[in-house]
Amino acid sequence: MKSFIIALMGGDGTGPEVLREGVKVLDAVSGEYGLKLNYTPYDFGGERYLRTGETLPASAIEELKKCNAIYLGAIGHPDVKPGILETGILLKLRFALDQYINLRPVKLYPNVATPLSNKGPEQIDFVVVRENTGGIYTGIGGAAMVGTPGEIATQVMVYSRSMVERCIRYAYDYTRRRNKRKLLTLVHKSNVLTYAGDLWVRTHREVGDADYPDIKQDYNHVDACTMWMVKSPEFYDVIVTENLFGDIITDLGAMIQGGMGIAAGGNINPEGVSMFEPIGGSAPKYTGKNLINPLAAICAGGMMLETLGETAAAGAVEKAVHAALASGKIKSLSAGQMGMGTTDVGDLVASLVR
Ligand code: IPM
Ligand code: MN
Repeated sequence: MKSFIIALMGGDGTGPEVLREGVKVLDAVSGEYGLKLNYTPYDFGGERYLRTGETLPASAIEELKKCNAIYLGAIGHPDVKPGILETGILLKLRFALDQYINLRPVKLYPNVATPLSNKGPEQIDFVVVRENTGGIYTGIGGAAMVGTPGEIATQVMVYSRSMVERCIRYAYDYTRRRNKRKLLTLVHKSNVLTYAGDLWVRTHREVGDADYPDIKQDYNHVDACTMWMVKSPEFYDVIVTENLFGDIITDLGAMIQGGMGIAAGGNINPEGVSMFEPIGGSAPKYTGKNLINPLAAICAGGMMLETLGETAAAGAVEKAVHAALASGKIKSLSAGQMGMGTTDVGDLVASLVR
């Protein structure tokens, strides 16, 4: 029997309750596929920060490096100033564990409402590979004359060739593995960002020409990409992009696939410890009410299995989510409008993996 150590970080708000449903489904699928998942719980998040002043101690990072994956609920607390938990926990883990890929599938499941009136599951099915540790997020920059009318501030979009190349290689490999349209679209803004953009454009072309002749290459400026995502999402198979552009277009992606209730993401270090999360946030007003949709967390659990190399088990989660939605029993993806509770959705998906 294959066994894995999974760090469980429920976090804030509805994080713990959606994660509980994710674990329910993972346990069901583990039973079927002969896996043993050993969970180690951690209580990092807003509550702990308010109690102890601590976001993520260095010792925790060392411990987390020894687990096989991290399963995260949500980080964000109404009583904590915005930025503290995001940088102190989420971004800190991404950097400390060198999770240089943020993988975000944009997939419309059956019976899910999309705001794109003329599009269905056939047209909305692509994946965004967002670079996850570089660019503006590295925090290089500065400010002067703060608080005066002359205040200036910079925040620099930093990339090295190797940072760009490892991300682009991951994206090509992923496109090949996905084996759908075999099209990798680079998204940037090379008409204005003539240095940083050019680095991405050249790397995308050189790596593709040299090592991925079977993968078609395309390029979109990021502003045009937001337009195409709405007008012709069927245009995309896999998108690769830098950190901030990826942050922005994946929220748009979440909306066209039916909202935050179904949007999952993986912070991936292909050679190390990766972290999986529903990207919807902590939704404080729904906490503890059994109203929040756990599907995004369940999908994140599926991505975790996939990244751990358990492809068949991951496929079973994906199929069960598909079947749960295809059954028509879940009325909506929005909290409080599902026609059933958080735990019922978990039960339904778990029953469908068995
Ligand atoms: C995300 C979030 C984070 C980001 C925030 C919370 C720091 O928006 O995961 O997309 O910007 O990456
Ligand atoms: Mn974001």
